[in-house]
Amino acid sequence: MNDTVLAADGLIKRYQEGQGELEVLSGVNLTVRRGDTAAIVGASGSGKSTLLNLLGGLDTPSEGSVAIGGQPLAGLNDRGLGRIRNHYLGFVYQFHHLLPEFTALENVAMPLLIRRLRPAEARERAARLLDQVGLAARATHKPAMLSGGERQRVAIARALVTDPALVLADEPTGNLDERTADQVQELMLDLNQRLGTALLIVTHDHRIAGRCQTRHELHEGLLRTF
Ligand SMILES: Nc1ncnc2c1ncn2[C@@H]1O[C@H](COP(=O)(O)OP(=O)(O)O)[C@@H](O)[C@H]1O
Ligand SMILES: [Mg+2]
Repeated sequence: MNDTVLAADGLIKRYQEGQGELEVLSGVNLTVRRGDTAAIVGASGSGKSTLLNLLGGLDTPSEGSVAIGGQPLAGLNDRGLGRIRNHYLGFVYQFHHLLPEFTALENVAMPLLIRRLRPAEARERAARLLDQVGLAARATHKPAMLSGGERQRVAIARALVTDPALVLADEPTGNLDERTADQVQELMLDLNQRLGTALLIVTHDHRIAGRCQTRHELHEGLLRTF
């Protein structure tokens, strides 16, 4: 059995900048296996979000390749790409991106409804995930009635409800105070242990990075493992 979830090979990303070009990534290689926890740290503007967007199939590299579940993303049409992303990946961002007019339960159920799961089953699975992130009692609250940490826990439940092999998280605790950040981080690592979901976390919190199995630093377009 091949247990590689994600493989990136020789990723180069250049942005058009006025007359010239800005090379943000200069040949990044990265492998994530089932159940891994990996952190990417790096200065602001070093290209962390750019890299995560390439890995998640939200943007395409100038050169190099990304494969998810052994399937190279290049050459897939939108439908094929969507299918791979839905099957393998969950996403968590710095800002939760919850839908304000829906309850916590409805927000978590949304990815399942989009997949045309029966509403009763979607709600049942969403309730189970909310319970796993410790928010069973907040199921009927809308995002505005939740604290920052609770909102981020709902976002994590939403990312996990489809049972992805890998969650890509872009500064998931960047908008939280230190204590809440610790709790959210603890939760993610706990879910990794219990569910076996691999985590790739972009963070500039070195304490968080220190708790991951592998740590990478993005610097001058290259990823260094330390
Ligand atoms: N769509 C874009 N077009 C042009 N330049 C971009 C674009 N996205 C990001 N950049 C530039 O690429 C560099 C890396 O950005 P980003 O990946 O957001 O860094 P980080 O997430 O590490 O803070 C920055 O200099 C940024 O201005
Ligand atoms: Mg960023």
